[in-house]
Amino acid sequence: MLFRTHFEIFKSIRALLPFVLGAFSLGLVIEVNELMKVFGKVKALDGLSFHVENGEIFGLIGPNGAGKTTALRIVSTLLLPTSGSVKVFNRNVVHEASDVRKIISYLPEEAGAYKNLSGDEYLGFMAKFNTPNKDELKTVVANAAEISGLGKRLKDKVKTYSKGMKRRLLVARALMNKPKLAVLDEPTSGLDVLHAYHVRGIIKQYVREHGVTVLLSSHNMLEVEYLCDRVALINKGKIVAEGTPAELKAKYNVANLEEAFAKVVHLA
Ligand SMILES: Nc1ncnc2c1ncn2[C@@H]1O[C@H](COP(=O)(O)OP(=O)(O)OP(=O)(O)O)[C@@H](O)[C@H]1O
Ligand SMILES: [Mg+2]
Repeated sequence: MLFRTHFEIFKSIRALLPFVLGAFSLGLVIEVNELMKVFGKVKALDGLSFHVENGEIFGLIGPNGAGKTTALRIVSTLLLPTSGSVKVFNRNVVHEASDVRKIISYLPEEAGAYKNLSGDEYLGFMAKFNTPNKDELKTVVANAAEISGLGKRLKDKVKTYSKGMKRRLLVARALMNKPKLAVLDEPTSGLDVLHAYHVRGIIKQYVREHGVTVLLSSHNMLEVEYLCDRVALINKGKIVAEGTPAELKAKYNVANLEEAFAKVVHLA
């Protein structure tokens, strides 16, 4: 009888374990462990590890070819790792890819929108994938229109847009559904100062208001410093420094992140 009771207690604890562990990892949105990605002879990622907490804006910075886009594509389930593991909200990006896709949105480094649609039509078309309710759809599209800041130009066909205007449309598409996790590969690349400022403001506001977590990559240190709660510096597929912008500046005894970046990459 005693044995049976103990056994039952053990069984109950075992059954509860995933929930207890889940509660502990609630704060973690992304867990990247010892990630490797090899393309032929190129080691794009070489044991990359980092984590992103709930509600954080986390920035990956690093020189061209460091592995940022490769890492973001693996987190977004678009590319398979060679080895290592990545979890998004405790779900494995390889084995539970369809679950992960439902809760994230991904802005590729180089993305195109459908040229023959107007900006409005494009946003409406994309919104339908995640918004079955018609009333809600209107709100989502109106929201996206505001994020884009494109105003009347949304009536024009995408093929008449400048590079920066297309980027703003795509950033709006990536954020309009208030994803739990937005993965943004160089969100403001190609934008002029004013529009980059607008997009950064939107990203910051979105995170705070809607509890969106953001993983982004950027070459713009001003942007990283303004936006990111924490930053990881990646070089040759590895993290070589990590911390808040203030911590990194203090650690390398420099006035801005650009100098920290130069110091670390030069030393690495
Ligand atoms: N599909 C691919 N096939 C072969 N090699 C690839 C592929 N994708 C990336 N690579 C290589 O992997 C390495 C990392 O590339 P990645 O695009 O991740 O760098 P990045 O940090 O995003 O650079 P950038 O700042 O220029 O965008 C590079 O050496 C690149 O040539
Ligand atoms: Mg890249």
